[in-house]
Amino acid sequence: MNTIVEFIDEKEPNVDIIKLAGDIIRKGGLVAFPTETVYGLGANALDSEAVHKIFIAKGRPQDNPLIIHVADLAIEEFVEEIPPIAKKMMDKFWPGSLTLIMKKSNKVPDITSAGLDSIGIRMPSNPVANMLIKEAGVPIAAPSANISGRPSPTDIDTCIEDLTGRVDCIIGGEKCKVGLESTIVDCTVEPPLVLRPGGITLEMLREIHPKIEIDPAVMTKVEGSFKPKAPGMKYRHYAPKAPVKIVVGDLEKTVAKINEIVQNYIDDGKKVGIMASNETIHRYPKGVVKSLGSRSNLSTVARNLFKTLRDFDSENIDIILSESFEEKGVGIAVMNRLKKAAGFELINADT
Ligand code: TXA
Ligand code: MG
Repeated sequence: MNTIVEFIDEKEPNVDIIKLAGDIIRKGGLVAFPTETVYGLGANALDSEAVHKIFIAKGRPQDNPLIIHVADLAIEEFVEEIPPIAKKMMDKFWPGSLTLIMKKSNKVPDITSAGLDSIGIRMPSNPVANMLIKEAGVPIAAPSANISGRPSPTDIDTCIEDLTGRVDCIIGGEKCKVGLESTIVDCTVEPPLVLRPGGITLEMLREIHPKIEIDPAVMTKVEGSFKPKAPGMKYRHYAPKAPVKIVVGDLEKTVAKINEIVQNYIDDGKKVGIMASNETIHRYPKGVVKSLGSRSNLSTVARNLFKTLRDFDSENIDIILSESFEEKGVGIAVMNRLKKAAGFELINADT
């Protein structure tokens, strides 16, 4: 398949490019496009055949439901009902990086929700995404625009790397502002449950409903019969090619522990990557060291995480050692993605 690639300015999106992409979606094709969280791989959410193509292009398991993207608050036709708490969250956080799970209507085909009776809906704030959905005139089903299992793309080059030849069109150009996938909140249960942490933090959500909790599957390894409520959370995810290990504990001890482990790998002839922070980057004399940003700005750390994991891959690193970050605010989402990339393998620096 020939893939059209079009660069687009988010401040003044070229209307002809949006028209072209909208037309492809309407006709049942696939378009990768930017959102404020990560790039999405979109198709008409109401067209089963088009949605089927998403699963093929990504190599995505068929039991993993998709999020539908809308351009306004008028979602009544896609859901059975809008629970009052969902309405409150929509009013407060849309457009933005928050996906709400509600009971779906018959209008949404089963393939989009992977057979579930609920559907995830989100209204992105990225102007290109918003214009594209409006131009297409249909809701757009879109998972992250990566090959299944790999870190989500946060820039157009990564979409091009993963999807050239697999989709009809790729549009974009700017780096995603949040850099991690949207926060998912299940509004079919009371109190609502966070199924995936993201840029809209638990603290922000608790201002709307103080009893909102996080699904325990988010921070621990899913084993045995225990099933996470978001099917996608059970897959090995966000993973670069090289294995990732996270060192947790006191920061001083973490630096010492990482340097010790790095030396062992180097002695074994391995090429080691270190994911550090601005505060510690100069403290690793060996290995390929990259900073995710300052510890005092976890939003920057979030924005840089997936790209940094991919950069290590392109440098043919054998193993990645990562510092850990405070599990507060967006740090909860950062640590969730890191732990998943590491298969929940943690090394304690304090012991
Ligand atoms: O930020 C985002 O949400 C990005 C951009 C493109 O919008 N999209 C994204 O989609 O991350 P995806 O498909 O990579 O992740 C969707 C997650 C999966 O873990 C899936 O299992 C879960 O949402 N999900 C979707 N519908 C669900 C439902 N009805 N119930 C529970 N989990 C659901
Ligand atoms: Mg994904």
